Amino acid sequence: QTISLIGVPTDIGAGHRGASMGPEAMRVANLAAKLEQRGLQVIDRGNLHGPLNPWQPPVDGYRHLDEVVAWNTAVYTAIHQELQSGRLPIMLGGDHCLAIGSISAVADHCRETGKQLRVLWLDAHSDFNTAEATPSGNIHGMPVACLCGRGPQVLTGIGNTSPAITPDVIRQIGIRSVDYGEKQLVREANVGIFDMRRIDEDGMKRVMEQALDGMDDNTHLHVSFDVDFLDPSIAPGVGTTVRGGPGYREAQLCMEMISDSGRLASLDLVELNPAFDRRNATAKLAVDLIESLFGKSTLIR
Ligand code: ARG
Ligand code: MN
Ligand code: MN
Ligand code: MN
Repeated sequence: QTISLIGVPTDIGAGHRGASMGPEAMRVANLAAKLEQRGLQVIDRGNLHGPLNPWQPPVDGYRHLDEVVAWNTAVYTAIHQELQSGRLPIMLGGDHCLAIGSISAVADHCRETGKQLRVLWLDAHSDFNTAEATPSGNIHGMPVACLCGRGPQVLTGIGNTSPAITPDVIRQIGIRSVDYGEKQLVREANVGIFDMRRIDEDGMKRVMEQALDGMDDNTHLHVSFDVDFLDPSIAPGVGTTVRGGPGYREAQLCMEMISDSGRLASLDLVELNPAFDRRNATAKLAVDLIESLFGKSTLIR
């Protein structure tokens, strides 16, 4: 199987500038070569293009809505094309609003090919805000709600089917920052959430067993990896750090268990922000973790 890298250099949905430099930071950290060393074939498709960040305040609860639509439309088309050609796309963001486009494409592809979809959402945040609930207007706090049909028609309508997904396909892991109104919304929608308290109590192993449970050889597993999932002490290069996240070993175990499932079929790597990083350390860590996602293991067997 061939992996395709798709850079999406924008911070259009974020509250800090700099995630637009994420794709290049991942290339500088040698992502393609590291995957090739694992015996994988890798094609770097380069970067998508879209509007610059006009850095305007929110309008009716949304910041930069038109630009977010433009970028996500490009992401949808690119990811759908790669899936249709039988490749495994890795979207290099860019901020997390771009998961609207990528997961809409994955969901349409699953409907076209009769696959069952599972989405693992690795994040400190639930990203389930609406125009009414958002404290910021930043659309990177809204992609899961939009994908589930709660959002402006221009975003919920991306792709062939609206809503793109139902909440029951989602498993969120690492959650530790959910806004007041957003809490109500995730409860109402019944999103499957394994928050940090759950990881503390049950451990990453049991949590991942449960999050991956019920998949079979007809399952397309999509991983949406927001770098702020990781504890800020190991991953400072993000705009929205929240303390108390998984450390290095826990994150490795999470990646290795996903790899062991054998179902990984598409990936987002989002919210990497080199403007906050130290000598590209967070990008290097992300590459290390993605290697584990694709089968690198320290196990002796
Ligand atoms: N909940 C906050 C908001 O909606 C932060 C969202 C952060 N999202 C992210 N993808 N980093 O503004
Ligand atoms: Mn389609
Ligand atoms: Mn986040
Ligand atoms: Mn996120």
